[in-house]
Amino acid sequence: MSRSDLTEAAGRLSACRRIVVFTGAGVSAESGIPTFRGEGGIWEKYDPDVFGNIPGLGQVWLTQPQRLLDFITDALDTFLAAQPNAAHLVIGKAEAAGRIRAVVTQNVDDLHERGGTRTVFKLHGDLYTLRCLRCGRSGPLDRGRMERIRDQLDGMRSGRLAILKKLWEIMPRCGECEGLTRPDVVFFGESLPANVLRQAEEETRSCDAFLIVGTSGVVYPAALLPKLARSRGALVVEVNREASPYTEMSDFSFFGPAGSIVPELIPESPRPA
Ligand code: APR
Repeated sequence: MSRSDLTEAAGRLSACRRIVVFTGAGVSAESGIPTFRGEGGIWEKYDPDVFGNIPGLGQVWLTQPQRLLDFITDALDTFLAAQPNAAHLVIGKAEAAGRIRAVVTQNVDDLHERGGTRTVFKLHGDLYTLRCLRCGRSGPLDRGRMERIRDQLDGMRSGRLAILKKLWEIMPRCGECEGLTRPDVVFFGESLPANVLRQAEEETRSCDAFLIVGTSGVVYPAALLPKLARSRGALVVEVNREASPYTEMSDFSFFGPAGSIVPELIPESPRPA
């Protein structure tokens, strides 16, 4: 990455008014949420074949509740502590200034929303929403409720049966029918929310620039969106710590932390192109 490339890409982006930002776990890494793949990634600590799907989680609950306890505790600690970083904030400001049309994210955190972005298409669902396994209704999982669950997990440290029973007791129930709920996120093998995917595709088809931030580009169908943008003639700019499947097809690729590079690409007061 050279400074002149960064200036050139920022100049090209400043002429665009229909930018779509496509994000993955890398945009939230500097907020303290580990990415999924690579060193220190979530899937290194928790096997995705087990922890990445509902039957696997159910199995862990029955056979190794302590492991499930660790997984939930880790997740709650991480998500409760995370704050939007400079990338989330500058994206929110650029949307408010009318330069960004939408964020399409694979992340289930709420950092884009808390960073000020209003139009966020969450392809892989939302950790802050619960869906009833019985009646299918959705309801919010607010931070207060998350904190209460987190507090209840403390002190639940020994005895397989005791943990199993306690986990059952504190599992959030549906406000309507008392059924068990699950996080409204897309696990492996599940379909993406069709209306969200459709809207994300529509925005991608009609954007004039597509800014990819912090995704390994290996999970489909989300991974197809940059190719769709490219095929429609949009300017494609990538920010990642390392080369990805999008590096070759991008007009510009910048390697480094999103929190430093994204504010350079879409500064608050863009210079005229
Ligand atoms: N700044 C920019 N990029 C970063 C940073 C950073 N600070 N840190 C890491 N990255 C990059 C990594 O180089 C990697 O390419 O972010 C990417 C993260 O990749 P993954 O961990 O695979 O995350 P993501 O692409 O979002 O995964 C897609 O996989 O497991 C599923 O459902 C899960 O939504 C997720 C999907």
